[in-house]
Amino acid sequence: MAHEAPPNRYTGFPDGFFSRMDESPDANFYLEPRLVTHIDEAAIEAVQVCYDELAMHGEILDLCSSWTSHLARRPARLVVLGMNEHELDCNEFAHERVVHDLNVTPQLPFADACFDGAVCTVSVDYLSRPIEVFDELARVLRPGAPFACTFSNRCFPTKVIRGWMASDDAFHLELVAEYFRRATGWEQPRMEHRNAGRSGDPLYAVWARTER
Ligand SMILES: C[S@@+](CC[C@H](N)C(=O)[O-])C[C@H]1O[C@@H](n2cnc3c(N)ncnc32)[C@H](O)[C@@H]1O
Repeated sequence: MAHEAPPNRYTGFPDGFFSRMDESPDANFYLEPRLVTHIDEAAIEAVQVCYDELAMHGEILDLCSSWTSHLARRPARLVVLGMNEHELDCNEFAHERVVHDLNVTPQLPFADACFDGAVCTVSVDYLSRPIEVFDELARVLRPGAPFACTFSNRCFPTKVIRGWMASDDAFHLELVAEYFRRATGWEQPRMEHRNAGRSGDPLYAVWARTER
């Protein structure tokens, strides 16, 4: 008996949506550490408030991490995953550091249900296989745990997916919410403009909890 192929969860995105101007290995691009901040002080504070509201205090995974995780206080356990070893070594809140290319291997090197929360700060636009990564996040988070993506309107343009580069902030909110909807294991996502009406870098959050 013939089996039906599973639905392609990337259907509906235009050709090339998840490609980048620079398709050379990400490992080369992130070879040199960048010990910088990517958004202004007020936007960083908005990130901290968001993560605090979501109680990112237990066992936490910071995806696409660097020398800072933008958490107001150190969680019980913080695992940071990113591309540059030195940046991760400089993250003083981290308990464990993992260098891992999510665009090559979207599978996460962690057991099922081992985190209380996850964050991805100003980096979701670099993911070329986001739905697989979001599937994996649902697997490694405990039931009812939040995953929050925060982002602004700045980036390394050559490494961002073309679909993000070609669209505006309102579309980005909908896009990240759509990643949650297409991935497996998530409740309905929330989209928020966290610092509306303020000057400086805008700060958006899209977050959801794993199914209970
Ligand atoms: C704009 S920086 C943001 C760093 C940090 N989250 C912050 O808020 O300062 C983008 C980060 O995404 C990570 N990144 C980019 N491509 C990645 C990939 N293919 N796999 C894993 N991490 C990646 C890099 O290591 C880099 O630190």
